[in-house]
Amino acid sequence: MTRTAICELFGIEHPILLAGMGTASTPELAAAVSNAGGLGIMGAAGLGPRGLRDWIARCRALTDKPFGIDTLLPASVRRGANLKPLSNGPLPQDLVPQYRAMAAGFLADEGIQPATDDQIWPEPDGPPMFSKDFFEAQMDVIIEERVPVYASGLGSPGPWIERLHANGAKVLAVVGTVRHARQVVPDGIDAIVAQGHDGGGHNSPIGTMALIPQVVDAVGDRVPVLGAGGIVDGRGIAAALMLGASGVWVGSAFLASEEAGLFDGQKQAIVDATEEGTTVSRAVTGKPARMIQSKWTKFWEESEHEPLPMPFQTQVARPALTAANLAGRSQEINPGFAGQGIGMIKAVRPAAAIMADLIAGMDETLDARFKALRG
Ligand SMILES: Cc1cc2nc3c(=O)[nH]c(=O)nc-3n(C[C@H](O)[C@H](O)[C@H](O)COP(=O)(O)O)c2cc1C
Repeated sequence: MTRTAICELFGIEHPILLAGMGTASTPELAAAVSNAGGLGIMGAAGLGPRGLRDWIARCRALTDKPFGIDTLLPASVRRGANLKPLSNGPLPQDLVPQYRAMAAGFLADEGIQPATDDQIWPEPDGPPMFSKDFFEAQMDVIIEERVPVYASGLGSPGPWIERLHANGAKVLAVVGTVRHARQVVPDGIDAIVAQGHDGGGHNSPIGTMALIPQVVDAVGDRVPVLGAGGIVDGRGIAAALMLGASGVWVGSAFLASEEAGLFDGQKQAIVDATEEGTTVSRAVTGKPARMIQSKWTKFWEESEHEPLPMPFQTQVARPALTAANLAGRSQEINPGFAGQGIGMIKAVRPAAAIMADLIAGMDETLDARFKALRG
């Protein structure tokens, strides 16, 4: 059995965290990972206050083990830097109607009916998704509900850290560079996730293999570092531990699980994809993110228009992608975020089976393979 500093920190058996993946890391998936001795982190980035409270209650009903919540706290939105004019002149918010018309044209060309507002926006009475007020409303709920672990997927949770710690919560931040790791550590973070370029979702320019040891060298004497990005089996976990990580934050390996909050077509896209199947695009949230190539990413690659910055691209993309999902066309139009390791995923399975393989593969690699190499 492999135990590290983060097992003590979080009160878990195995140094494996389910990455917070927006929509995909459901309460059911997080609870399954926590029940298997890892730490399940729900991906709540797109949930408003009511949705968040519902997910927390659902997770608590399924496990008495520690669990966590991941949301985004992008500095650009909190500072208002996203409201500045674009390099070609206009304010991004003024372009939303024109961009929505382009997205409507895309749907019409695909023969897809538009979705209604209440299908697109889960809590239309709340602040706009991914706006500053939206992020603040989420944090109020997470603190009120005394969630045991909080992870910030973008930006620093610094302004909330005292209140989170006062609840006894542990706080994580996901970083993609050494510079960002150095910025968040003085905020009092309990652990850092170093997520490399290979990973699914919002993306670092630095490859996982190079990023992990450099983040460990920079901050590993003060906080434990978790490796992330392209880790899909026990060999990847063992490699991250060899690079100095105290554990791993695993996302894509759980996308093709029965409990993941994906449409069947999205799970099939994961199973079908090879290591070449992803691309880094701003087409979904306005920030570079690794996702499976699709008609939607191609549309933006071929467009003369750049995607808008966060949160405005969401206001363009979400209506179109929701309509594609409702039309049963997610596999070709919205297969979703995923990392480069998905070529190793061959079937949709229960999360407990995926966890069992990760644990056995990690132990086997650290033990048998290491011994074989050493002779
Ligand atoms: C479908 C999907 C959704 C994601 N959504 C989020 C998110 O909402 N917040 C976040 O911090 N990271 C998000 N990520 C990134 C993951 O937390 C994690 O860093 C990444 O999945 C690790 O790389 P891997 O997919 O190769 O395991 C997402 C990743 C995927 C694949």
